[in-house]
Amino acid sequence: MAKKQLRIGLIGYGFMGRAHSNAFAQVGHFFPSSYEIVLKAVCARDAVKAQEFADRWGYESIETDWKKLLARKDIDVVDIAVPNNLHAEIAIAAAKAGKMILCEKPLALNSKQAEGMVKAIEKAKVPNMVWYNYRRCPAVVLAKQLIDSGKLGKVFHYRANFLQDWTINPELPQGGAALWRLDVKAAGSGVTGDLLAHCIDTAMWLNGGIKDVSAMTETFIKERKHTLTGKVEKVGIDDACAFLCHFNNGSLGLFESTRYARGHKALYTFEINGENMSLKWDLHDLHRLQIFDYSDVGAERGWKSVHVSDGDHPYTGKWWVPGLQLGYEHSFIHQVVEFISGLESGKNAKPDFRDGLATDYVVDAVLASAKTHKWTKVKRVKG
Ligand SMILES: NC(=O)c1ccc[n+]([C@@H]2O[C@H](COP(=O)([O-])OP(=O)(O)OC[C@H]3O[C@@H](n4cnc5c(N)ncnc54)[C@H](O)[C@@H]3O)[C@@H](O)[C@H]2O)c1
Repeated sequence: MAKKQLRIGLIGYGFMGRAHSNAFAQVGHFFPSSYEIVLKAVCARDAVKAQEFADRWGYESIETDWKKLLARKDIDVVDIAVPNNLHAEIAIAAAKAGKMILCEKPLALNSKQAEGMVKAIEKAKVPNMVWYNYRRCPAVVLAKQLIDSGKLGKVFHYRANFLQDWTINPELPQGGAALWRLDVKAAGSGVTGDLLAHCIDTAMWLNGGIKDVSAMTETFIKERKHTLTGKVEKVGIDDACAFLCHFNNGSLGLFESTRYARGHKALYTFEINGENMSLKWDLHDLHRLQIFDYSDVGAERGWKSVHVSDGDHPYTGKWWVPGLQLGYEHSFIHQVVEFISGLESGKNAKPDFRDGLATDYVVDAVLASAKTHKWTKVKRVKG
């Protein structure tokens, strides 16, 4: 039977442009479906660089203006892989053009923008997904399965960290192509929207909604030269953030993120403690899930490290043979698997724009609490 084509228009060819393109290219080899992905066009402002990228990754054509890409009839899916300040405008226009939308995280600069995006996709009724890819690491899915099975019993604690060290140098400028993450106008916030957003999305997927937060943030380097203006300007992002929260299920949460933890490059870890079982995961060892099961026989009871690579583990049976591990790029491939499964089943893939909005509500509450030094309630997504 002929497959239905899913013609992709990618906007942005940076880090995520590559991660997504790799996922689009690989998914059909390992996860056959009724859809065939066609790399139709890549859009970037520099035509020469866009063409180089298209040639390397197999895109059929290029555009240098995303509005032209959206106007094309031969594009089914718009994939937004550009800095955060462009997500809302592009996604709302793409929804109006009737395109399916894949959008990078955080969904928007803030929850107000994200609300507009949810409204637009719901009015247009277009399939949509946010690239919170850590949900799709096999070990994280195994954690989800164990939690949903009830094996943990009542959950008491959830804690997560996302630690990096790449902005310690005060001479590092802010803004421009490589350093837009340090420019609040392009990023919206610092580690809270960039790194903790991942931790918050995973946490709410595993442990349910967050009720309220109490946060502190710090900007260690107050001024940096701006790449675009050449002037020394105030730094508007948070360099570090820590917050406490209550989950709706009564458990307590503790989150920390920084780009000033010397020695750490991308140390995303989470731990969840239930009355009968605890689970731990670490991005540096992403194919393993640490499990402590209180029902194990007394003398043999202890933390065990499960190598999540067996045939009956999530996604892994479709890959190599048991024992051979998967890596970072596979989380994006699995995210595309979910998107295609959603199209096949008629149920929108997760995480969708509503989930992205829910995370942006937490991010906004964290930033507000850090300013006021008060516990702050988290808004709930309506409907
Ligand atoms: N899911 C994840 O784990 C993850 C990891 C990194 C980044 N991200 C998110 O992905 C997005 C992109 O981040 P990145 O690390 O790939 O950034 P990047 O700087 O590597 O790439 C951004 C790309 O956007 C392009 N761009 C900027 N303005 C544009 C415009 N007007 N039209 C077309 N292209 C334009 C740039 O030329 C560049 O190719 C951000 O929202 C970021 O938060 C997610």
